[in-house]
Amino acid sequence: MAWQIISPKTNQEWEAYYDLRYTILRKPWHQPKGSEKSDNEEACTHALLIDENANALACGRSEWTNAETIQIRYMAVSHSFQGKGAGGKILQFLEENAKQNGAIKVLLHARENAISFYIKHGYAIKEKSHLLFSEIQHFLMQKDL
Ligand SMILES: CC(C)(COP(=O)(O)OP(=O)(O)OC[C@H]1O[C@@H](n2cnc3c(N)ncnc32)[C@H](O)[C@@H]1OP(=O)(O)O)[C@@H](O)C(=O)NCCC(=O)NCCS
Repeated sequence: MAWQIISPKTNQEWEAYYDLRYTILRKPWHQPKGSEKSDNEEACTHALLIDENANALACGRSEWTNAETIQIRYMAVSHSFQGKGAGGKILQFLEENAKQNGAIKVLLHARENAISFYIKHGYAIKEKSHLLFSEIQHFLMQKDL
């Protein structure tokens, strides 16, 4: 299968990108459309994994929190592709991009269900963080690049 990571550019790619975020990270908790976006999207690096038919399989985003640190957010893999390496490819893409641009550290707030995925990719838990939608416990995790 020919998978490819792109940064969304066309309207169709942006729509597929945000739709995947919404479907995986917001819709199951009955959140409104629009809640999958934040007000600093233009300042972020976006990664979208597509197949040979341009179907969106996985996505993720990174932003700088200081000159040496990025935060990764909104990691989402289409339900039928979870556990097939797609999330790992997005993570690797964002980490490599950040490293090439001078980052030495990555922070993220992991949903409890995803902790072992991040540990597998070299992240360590720093502390328990926020509770999203009154039910999804998050944990602050960190990795040195
Ligand atoms: C968490 C998520 C991003 C991982 O991406 P993925 O493509 O499913 O994971 P990969 O296939 O790259 O890696 C899978 C590995 O992580 C492990 N893993 C741990 N938790 C996992 C989880 N919740 N889902 C999938 N794999 C998980 C698997 O055991 C597997 O290890 P193995 O290869 O040794 O068997 C994805 O499953 C997802 O979008 N989940 C729902 C939304 C979510 O929780 N997003 C994270 C917000 S912080």
